[in-house]
Amino acid sequence: MKFRMALVVVSLLLSIAIGLMLGRRGALPASRSGGGGDAPIVIGLSMDTEKEARWQKDRDVFTARARELGAQVKTQSANSDDTRQIQDVKSLLANHVDVLVIIPHDGDAMAEGVREAAKAGVPVIAYDRLIRNCDLDLYLSFDNVKVGEMQARYLVEHLPGGKGRIVRIYGAPTDNNAKIFKQGQDQVLAPLIARGDIEVVHEDWATDWDSANAKKIMNAALTRASSGFDAVLASNDGTAGGAIQALKEAGLAGKVIVTGQDADLVACQRIAAGQQAMTVYKPIQNLATRAAELAVTMARGKPVIANGAVANGQKDVPAVLLDIVSVDKDNLRQTIVAGGFHSEAEVFGAP
Ligand code: BGC
Repeated sequence: MKFRMALVVVSLLLSIAIGLMLGRRGALPASRSGGGGDAPIVIGLSMDTEKEARWQKDRDVFTARARELGAQVKTQSANSDDTRQIQDVKSLLANHVDVLVIIPHDGDAMAEGVREAAKAGVPVIAYDRLIRNCDLDLYLSFDNVKVGEMQARYLVEHLPGGKGRIVRIYGAPTDNNAKIFKQGQDQVLAPLIARGDIEVVHEDWATDWDSANAKKIMNAALTRASSGFDAVLASNDGTAGGAIQALKEAGLAGKVIVTGQDADLVACQRIAAGQQAMTVYKPIQNLATRAAELAVTMARGKPVIANGAVANGQKDVPAVLLDIVSVDKDNLRQTIVAGGFHSEAEVFGAP
């Protein structure tokens, strides 16, 4: 008990210290910053893509909250192209943004963008995806290890006797999150694979998280696994969609468990229709709202309090990590609909 108390006190002090450090590091020269004078704060938002429905929501909620706080948001989207995204960051910096919020396509390649920002004295928040090997100021995301654990645990708990053959579809190899989701899944699956309870009949990475690539992986699995399989551990709703399309064409949709992530509307509809078993609901509203608030705080050179830290290869980056919820047909209404993420009519169709 005493030990736990001590831990709580230590982590609290650490958070405050991180916050204060961040405040100093994030402080901008008065000439650039909205904190010094009356000039409105300008936030640069550099997005990898707007392809998945979730990113459109992230963008809209973020922009609305920033506006409420009196800040202006300049947005660029790179269509999954690293060269273009670095160019986007450079052009936002050339346009004198006070703070940069980046959703990197490639968490390694974007280190260059963070170095450019540092040269310009502009603090950087990595949004949802970590940027590695650089002096990043803040990382804001969900508990991504837990996302992977939740997907794998759901799958295992819904296999008869906790045993079966599975196909694994990972996300984009360029996205640090994809590796973390796999890490969380591995933590649950490794002992079961070692015991022979779970057999992985096919696995692959879906380049750019593209559902068409996921469909190809699923088709390869269908060709290869002649003795069949019981479940598909798809890492997000986009890849689940590609996999389910292939399963449909093979007459197997609804007959194998398929996981996902993001609570995309189409995925919630598939859950309602019994084609997809689960998704992980990540409250985008909270993430985007917090990000806008923290961006404005940093632009004003004020301290930011993190609730954790995540190693990015160069440093322990102060991090704010939000919680997530596992969703299937049993709690779809209580979570997604009750929380206002999607309406009853959108998910289940008009009565
Ligand atoms: C995000 C997921 C998303 C995926 C594809 C990941 O980094 O955490 O929510 O589905 O990228 O865009």
